[in-house]
Amino acid sequence: MKVLAITNQKGGVGKTTTAVNLAASLAHEGCRVLLIDLDPQGNATTGAGITKREALPTVYQVLLGQVGLGEAALATEFGFAVLPANRELAGAEVEIIELERREFRLRDALKDAPYDFVLIDCPPALNMLTVNGLVAADAVLIPMQCEYYALEGLSDLVETLKKVRAHLNPRLEIEGLLRTMYNPQSTLTQQVSGELERHFGRKVYNTIVPRNVRLAEAPSYGKPVLAFDRSSKGAQAYLALAQEMLGRLAHDEGAA
Ligand SMILES: Nc1ncnc2c1ncn2[C@@H]1O[C@H](COP(=O)(O)OP(=O)(O)O)[C@@H](O)[C@H]1O
Ligand SMILES: [Mg+2]
Repeated sequence: MKVLAITNQKGGVGKTTTAVNLAASLAHEGCRVLLIDLDPQGNATTGAGITKREALPTVYQVLLGQVGLGEAALATEFGFAVLPANRELAGAEVEIIELERREFRLRDALKDAPYDFVLIDCPPALNMLTVNGLVAADAVLIPMQCEYYALEGLSDLVETLKKVRAHLNPRLEIEGLLRTMYNPQSTLTQQVSGELERHFGRKVYNTIVPRNVRLAEAPSYGKPVLAFDRSSKGAQAYLALAQEMLGRLAHDEGAA
């Protein structure tokens, strides 16, 4: 099982879009996938077609230890499972602090879960929920928009990862950096993208997710883009990302 936290403390960079569509694409490639919604906004939950009413119990009850992961995870029609979230999760931030192993709640809940991939959609903040995501993860996948402040934000994130590694989760790696909402016409985008490749080398995925309106439309139909418009550039990009990821993992295993 590979657990990936999809994280970036900036909002609106494509975390949720990546979480939902990568989950669908990995499932399409034959993997057993669990998508965990760790954001009280619940966008990954609704984006995967789960209505707020269905979404009970949620990741909130799992974090508090009231129900097991197996009881709360829901199957979707898109071939992957979802551990949903709703507004109630905002309260967990404070409530978890009182509990034992407060940073390890999600990791403990994931023990022996029957999946090839667990994708955690993190909230746009470095709070106790995100810490639980980073502690549960083997690696982080960082979606980013190639714009002026992106690299600055990235160095804050890298510092946070160092702290988590030093104190809570020594095995946490960077799985990859994903360029999202890419506009090849912008010179600034190209410059930032180049900087990214210089700093992070092969950690930067070759696959680039273009700005594509179908990706923005799909969530309002409660579908990953693969089920909404399979031939769109967005769907093709996330399929290519899943394939690139699987190819890298197979290669690394072969090398190990
Ligand atoms: N590649 C893309 N092309 C067009 N719109 C996108 C793309 N990726 C994300 N969006 C849209 O941008 C907004 C922010 O994306 P989202 O995935 O919710 O970011 P985050 O989870 O980081 O806050 C959403 O409205 C989403 O539909
Ligand atoms: Mg989000």
